[in-house]
Amino acid sequence: MANIAVFGYGTVGSGIVEVIKTNQELVDKRANDAVNIKYILDLRDFPGDPYENLVTHDVEQILSDPEVSVIAEAMGGVEPAYTFTKRALMSGKSVCTSNKELVEKKGAELIRIAKENNANYLYEASVGGGIPILRPLSTCVTADVIDKVTGILNGTTNYILTKMAEDGSSFDDVLKEAQDLGFAERDPKADIEGYDAGRKIAIMASIITGKNVSFDDVYTEGISAITPEDFVYAAKMKRVIRLLAMYRNTDAGKFAYVAPAMIGKENPLYAVGGVFNGILIHGNMLGDAMFYGQGAGKLATASAVCSDIVECVKERGKVLDRGWDEEALKLTDHKSRIMRFFVRVKDENAQAFAEAFKDCEQISADIDGETGFLTSPMNQTEFETVAEKASGIIKWIRVED
Ligand code: HSE
Repeated sequence: MANIAVFGYGTVGSGIVEVIKTNQELVDKRANDAVNIKYILDLRDFPGDPYENLVTHDVEQILSDPEVSVIAEAMGGVEPAYTFTKRALMSGKSVCTSNKELVEKKGAELIRIAKENNANYLYEASVGGGIPILRPLSTCVTADVIDKVTGILNGTTNYILTKMAEDGSSFDDVLKEAQDLGFAERDPKADIEGYDAGRKIAIMASIITGKNVSFDDVYTEGISAITPEDFVYAAKMKRVIRLLAMYRNTDAGKFAYVAPAMIGKENPLYAVGGVFNGILIHGNMLGDAMFYGQGAGKLATASAVCSDIVECVKERGKVLDRGWDEEALKLTDHKSRIMRFFVRVKDENAQAFAEAFKDCEQISADIDGETGFLTSPMNQTEFETVAEKASGIIKWIRVED
């Protein structure tokens, strides 16, 4: 029998218990052992819960129990999850987590500690919720250079952008509606400013490069400045606006950043709407591969944690080389990436703009007092240098071809 403990009995933690209990027979078969939930750690009591007898408030009871071989950490946040995880790994217990903040901040160190103690630190649920993306990156596409990742990695912002495009509503109105429906947090800053997607692309870039990509080095730009007018132009160009988490490995260097961008119908991510996530990867031999599904939610996220638990139990005693090193990866300034830019310009400045940006295409959306332009490909530094001298620019948005 493999005894496990669940740390945190909130949404994901209770989902982990539900997944294991619902699919117990299958889980045991796949794990090649009976998976038994021995403890649930939480500060709260759960009177009436079918598993209330498993709840303990005492982490020491779990950490000192030699029978517990795997811990599912669903506490969220850095502390005390970091200290508990470290201690568990140091006592040879494997840890499976959904905690993206901890994985991004301390992942490299925890992966090393796991290895040193013949244990594993697995984190499939930290990116893309229930979408299996990290295991494919580290165990499937292993003969390729992954040179591109383009991800819609945040369901909240994707829901807001999709609704804005469909209803012509403002960002504030859709955010409020999303909060009322429970799709957006009461404090939505981490989602709408792109921090959540930034942490996820940092984790993916770390796995791909084998070096540590810190979220602090990932440029993030959110969606709060996007307006209904922007969608009118986007529709005119048969494009949608999405918050994209980007990783690129080019001759000019490696980029990782998050920003809103316009994408066209030929991009498979065009069809990823609502709360769904989509991740498009490109390998230099494989070409494109797309992953799509629920990037959040109780059972979807728990399903990913449980797949890690199954693997840890099945491969007990074996170190699964899945992580990345503590050596920092130096990212290249995102402003040196070449792309086109969509720009809204006041009518009185349109002619001067077109002269300053040679080879730009005019986009008319019948909005009073302004017109749109699509520039030729250039890097952002070049774009900003010319744009600074131009007058009447209302707004600009990146365009992904
Ligand atoms: N707040 C996140 C989202 C949850 O909206 O996608 C999953 O990390």
